[in-house]
Amino acid sequence: MNKGDLAFILNRMTIDNFGTWLEIDLQTLRTNYKRLTEIAGVPVMPVVKANAYGHGLERVALELQIAGAKWFGVARVEEALFLREIGISGHILVLGYTPPTRVAHAINHDISLTVYDFDVAREYVVHAKGMNQAVNLHAKIDTGMGRLGIMPAEAPHFLEFIQNSQCLNLEGIFTHFACADEPDKGTTNLQINQFDHILGLVQQLDLRMPLVHSANSAGTINFPQARFDLVRAGIALYGHPPAQGTNLPAGISPAIAWKTRLISIKELPPGHGVSYGHRYHTEQNERIGVIAVGYGDGLRRRSGNQVLIQGKRVNIVGTVCMDQCMVQLNDLPEAQIGDEVVIMGKQNGAEISATDIANEWGTINYEIICGLAARMPRYYLNGK
Ligand SMILES: Cc1ncc(COP(=O)(O)O)c(C=O)c1O
Repeated sequence: MNKGDLAFILNRMTIDNFGTWLEIDLQTLRTNYKRLTEIAGVPVMPVVKANAYGHGLERVALELQIAGAKWFGVARVEEALFLREIGISGHILVLGYTPPTRVAHAINHDISLTVYDFDVAREYVVHAKGMNQAVNLHAKIDTGMGRLGIMPAEAPHFLEFIQNSQCLNLEGIFTHFACADEPDKGTTNLQINQFDHILGLVQQLDLRMPLVHSANSAGTINFPQARFDLVRAGIALYGHPPAQGTNLPAGISPAIAWKTRLISIKELPPGHGVSYGHRYHTEQNERIGVIAVGYGDGLRRRSGNQVLIQGKRVNIVGTVCMDQCMVQLNDLPEAQIGDEVVIMGKQNGAEISATDIANEWGTINYEIICGLAARMPRYYLNGK
């Protein structure tokens, strides 16, 4: 198949064209963005790193731009450059590490970078000076995350250094919360106090106050005092709670569903092995269905997975293969080849959420959606 054939298929894309696919409801995404903007009362920076948390960077970013987003947060400069390539015209901030050799890309494409220590800042000066231009920077303060960020004691001197360097433009100052999704609010309150203290020093030093931001999704929802000039929202924007105990505000719901189909059904006699390693044997005459999804799509190769068929939870049995796995259909005699199967999402009033899957797999919903394989077609509903 050549590129033209693929474009032809994608242009005529319906869910009937695929064995396994993701459905992304852009109307839900827009509603989530609008709700978060109302709640925050300040602009929301959609965090679209990791392929927009698995939802597909291009469509998500363009849709949010139409919905009014003026800032986008990414982890890598490559993601930022891609956003420029597809026509994102707002501010783009790289939240993670950018090698100094990419400063020229940042300047040429008006991309803002995060800076978190003197060594990196000095290297950025060298590269920006070589172009006789300034690079836009957001200084990250480590108020308690223990990851990237200048330590608070060094922060005032660091901010002064940036403001006094002609080739560095201090556009923002920010911090990141470690525990905003934890029931105990103590740590986040300490981080906010620490950050407030540094902001006070910035004022005393008569430094120009740049854009201030600190809140992720949990911070936005749980800590109104941390909203400052903008909030950086990822998981809640996509409609998932940042943690088990954090309820999402009304009107925010998951934008993504993960679906496949029943592609084969067989009656197997008692004692028949199913799938690699024969880790499952039928106990009686069993109706075994095959669904077109596997670990190559992001389904974990473990026992205990379930899916929805005709609104009922059904067990996956036997080893999950790369592209397929088997379901036991004895309690679902009405199931037929071609039936839609929901791995994550809603069906006839039943739901398996990303958080449900995360609980089963011993992880967090972030990892579930970011782990949705690139090979799965993203099918967009209700685009503008
Ligand atoms: C610096 C920074 N800000 C904001 C976010 C968004 O976080 P969340 O998805 O919890 O809203 C992230 C994501 O990890 C991040 O690294």
